[in-house]
Amino acid sequence: MTLTDTESAAVDQVPTKPSVLMCRPTYFTVSYRINPWMFPELPTDTDLALSQWQSLHDTYVGLGYDVNLIEPVEGLPDMVYAANGGFVIDNIAYGAKFTHVERQPEGPAYMDWFRANGFDVRVPDDINEGEGDFLLVGDVILAGTGFRSASSSHKKLARIYGREVVTLNLVNPNFYHLDTAVAVLNQSSEGRPANIAYLPSAFDRPSLDILRTRYPDAVIVTEEDAAVLGLNSFSDGQNIVIASRALDFERQLRERGYNPIGVDLSELLRGGGGVKCCTLELRR
Ligand code: ARG
Repeated sequence: MTLTDTESAAVDQVPTKPSVLMCRPTYFTVSYRINPWMFPELPTDTDLALSQWQSLHDTYVGLGYDVNLIEPVEGLPDMVYAANGGFVIDNIAYGAKFTHVERQPEGPAYMDWFRANGFDVRVPDDINEGEGDFLLVGDVILAGTGFRSASSSHKKLARIYGREVVTLNLVNPNFYHLDTAVAVLNQSSEGRPANIAYLPSAFDRPSLDILRTRYPDAVIVTEEDAAVLGLNSFSDGQNIVIASRALDFERQLRERGYNPIGVDLSELLRGGGGVKCCTLELRR
């Protein structure tokens, strides 16, 4: 069957649904402390983590996303935070190299998955925690440093992807990954510029100046919403899956015409992660 010009134009306009990678929290627990959210002395409820994760998974499926799964590995309790497994644009997967020894085996596990699924894998030399610290916003990559990813990895990113990389310095240990301090709201399309939401106090002065200049229309979230990892959200440009407890963020998104969808990941918050942490976008 061949399409007429009008038909193919209509097909072109259908927004493409995101492809994401997730990892079931089968072995989730908090057995070490590598961020201030983690208290290994307190028991965790893996069944609760599983059912909350399932609701995030089912939300994505309901939105029509292409949800891919990587097999969880016993002994890697943080593997559920798939965002840290790498960074993927243009079918190129830049692998992760974790800061802490506890998470280091996750790097190769994710790279194996990327290879097996047809991605061009670049093995990293520099410490970086993938989409936890790297966010594609329009034409640029915002890249966090200060707690986890080394700024040398930012230079590597620029070389691999041929895009401008903007380094941002994180200063608050509670917001140790960029995706805990910045949410991407929409990419640029049809004259609408890409936009973000962020927590100003998570950045040093020069980085804050960069954010203010580049995103004058950004959503500024409250400390309360950031404290439930409200910024750690996933947007397809219209629907934005957020922490259900981030009420003011939800209100601000609604006012701007987005469709916020709240999900409760309280058990996974005890590892220091939320919606976005559990989600790695696969851009082919
Ligand atoms: N316990 C994990 C860590 O500290 C949580 C990772 C959260 N992931 C994220 N993309 N922010 O490394």
